[in-house]
Order: sequence, then structure tokens, then C-alpha cells
Amino acid sequence: MNTSKQVNIMIGTVLVSIMMFGGYMAYESTRQVHAREEITQRIAERGARLFVSNCRTCHGLEGEGHVGPALNRPGFRILGEHDASGAEPTPPGEADAIHSFLFTTLACGRTNTVMPLWGQRFGGSLSDTQLNQLVTLISEGRWDLVKKIGAEHDKEVGATAKDILVQDVGALSLTEKNCGQFNADNAAELRNRDPYAAKPAAGATAAAAPASGATAAAPAAGGAAAAGKTLATAQGCAACHSAGGSNGVGPTWKGVFGKQEALVDGSTVTVDEAYLKESILAPNVKVTKGFAPGLMPQNFREKLTDDQVTQLIEYIKTLK
Ligand code: HEC
Ligand code: HEC
Repeated sequence: MNTSKQVNIMIGTVLVSIMMFGGYMAYESTRQVHAREEITQRIAERGARLFVSNCRTCHGLEGEGHVGPALNRPGFRILGEHDASGAEPTPPGEADAIHSFLFTTLACGRTNTVMPLWGQRFGGSLSDTQLNQLVTLISEGRWDLVKKIGAEHDKEVGATAKDILVQDVGALSLTEKNCGQFNADNAAELRNRDPYAAKPAAGATAAAAPASGATAAAPAAGGAAAAGKTLATAQGCAACHSAGGSNGVGPTWKGVFGKQEALVDGSTVTVDEAYLKESILAPNVKVTKGFAPGLMPQNFREKLTDDQVTQLIEYIKTLK
């Protein structure tokens, strides 16, 4: 065998291994996507079973609403990487806000409405695991599973829609004041959001078209404040922190900068840049009085860069 032949064989062997490895990697990533989908499917199925036995009475046979509001809304959907609609995946912060909204509403119910409190932690009948299964069902929009499992269940016990759906609203009791922070007014923003609006090509324009506010900033800080405003929507801050006044979920950002604020330990603090930074990166260190401590997400330290935190602070400072 001469040298050039040997070299050719070596090149050939290397090429074949590269091709085999590439094939394996492609297989492996598809396998992982499928495995993830299967797990989500199983969790949603458990959620659907819980929904069939606990929630259809008020929210309808397929989540279309009855004495309780419709839950099969696009606004409650969290889109993954490869949504069939081709829409952008829901940004992580926004997904967290939807998750917190659904979880808290389920765990605590709604004060002064017939929406019961479900969280075992607060005296209800469902564990955190079960609440998360219901949240997955709703945010994945798997009403097909509710329909299928519900039909099987109803056939077995011989129940009709009339037996299942609440007929006498007057007989239901109201949920008393408890851990809940959400109500129909502050739910409106999530109810009405359109997760399918952010198509890859149109995504940039959708995110850069905010409502009002960041105009008062000095020219130098203006760019940072505008970026902060976009971030506040993309990261889901805006769903809990209203820029215009309180929506009851998180403290309002309007006029908060420079203000004296009461903390739960009875002390007061002046809201300056350092306090804002600490509240974003290490929430619940002091906790603003009057709001639920667990609600402010704990993971922005990992998600936001230093620049992004500065941009958010610059934005909050402009809200007079
Ligand atoms: C006895 C009736 C009743 C039952 C049972 C019930 N709900 Fe509700 N639910 C309501 C009502 C009424 C509201 C709206 C309260 C309000 O106006 O803020 C509501 C609100 C909600 C919301 C917030 C939706 C929004 O647009 O604000 C979610 C999510 C929800 N329910 C999920 C569930 C789930 C999941 C179950 C089963 C574990 C369940 N509910 C069982 C009556 C009920
Ligand atoms: C699910 C709701 C929720 C989301 C999402 C959320 N927050 Fe909060 N945030 C709260 C609540 C509730 C508090 C008050 C209780 C506390 O301090 O833990 C709070 C407190 C704060 C405070 C202190 C405000 C004050 O007046 O003392 C700042 C600043 C803040 N959040 C910034 C942010 C930023 C920036 C984001 C997005 C990157 C964000 N939050 C996302 C619920 C939320």
C-alpha cells in the first residue's frame, strides 16, 4: 500500500465517523424533544383528570366557561420552541408570570367570588404537584384531553351535561379573603394577550411597540429606559407591575422612584437605585408591605444581565 492510498483510507474513515456522529446528534436532539413532549403530555393528562372531577362544574365541559370564565383562551397559553402555529416561543419571564397567575389563582381562589381555594397549604384539597398539573393543562391548552377523558368518565357513570354543570349559582358559597392577589381586573391583561402575535419576522416590531411612558428620560438614559420598557414586557414584569397605577398584584412602578416605602418589618426605605437593584436580584430580602412575598420571581439574578437590570431601573425611574 502506498502512502497516498493510506491517506485516502484515513480521510475516508474520518469522514464516515463525522457523518455517523452528526447523524447520532440529530437523532439525539429529536429524541430529547420527543421525551420532553411525552413528559408534558403525561402531566397534562393528570391535569385533565383533575379538571374533569373538580372544575367542569363551573368552567364548562371543555374549559369554555359556564358560571366561571373561559379558561381555553390563547392568553393563558405558554408556547414552546416548536409551536405548530410557527409563533415565537413565549419569553421565559412572561411564561413565569402566566404560571404564577394560574398557580396563585388556583391555590388561593378568588376572594368574594365562587372560585374556591384549592391549595392544601391554605386549607384546600389539592397538592402543589396537582396544582402544577392543572397549570400545565391550561398553559398547554390541552382541552382535547379534557374532552376525551371527560366523555369516558361521563359514559362510565352515566352523567349528562346537566348533571355536571352547576345549575344553582345561588347555592355556591363565596371564597373568603385569603392568600389571593389576583382579581378579574388585574387578570384582564393576561386574558387578552395574544401569544401568536409574535411571529419570528414580526417579533421585533411587536416588542418595540409599547404603549406610553418613557418619554421624560434625559437623552443619554433615554435609550436604556426604552430598552427597559421593552424588557419589562418581554420578561413579564409588566403583567404584575403596572406602570400607570396599582393593579393589585405587585407594587405599581408609577412614581415609586424617590418615594418612602413601608416594609413588612415596620421599617421604611427610600426607593433608590440600590433598593430597586436589590428588589430585582434578591427579592424578599425586605418585601414591600401589602403584597404577597412569594410572588416576585426569584430567578431574575440568573436571567438578566447587569445591563438589563440597569435598563429596567432606568425605565422605572422615568415613570413619574
Ligand atoms: C364553584 C365554581 C368554580 C369551580 C368549581 C372552579 N372555579 Fe375557577 N373560577 C370560578 C369563577 C367564578 C372565577 C372568576 C372569578 C373572578 O371573577 O375573578 C374563576 C376563575 C378561575 C381562573 C382565573 C381565570 C380568569 O380569567 O381570571 C382560573 C385559572 C380557574 N378559575 C381555574 C379553575 C380550576 C383549574 C378549577 C378546578 C380545580 C376551578 N377553577 C374550579 C368558579 C369556579
Ligand atoms: C408574578 C408577579 C411578578 C412578576 C412577574 C415580577 N414581579 Fe416584581 N414584585 C412582585 C411582588 C408581589 C412584589 C412585592 C413583594 C416583594 O417585594 O416580594 C414585587 C416587588 C418588586 C420590586 C420592589 C418594588 C417596590 O415598590 O418596593 C421591584 C423593583 C420589582 N418587583 C421589579 C420587578 C422586575 C424588574 C420584574 C421583571 C424583570 C418583576 N418585578 C417581575 C411581583 C412580580
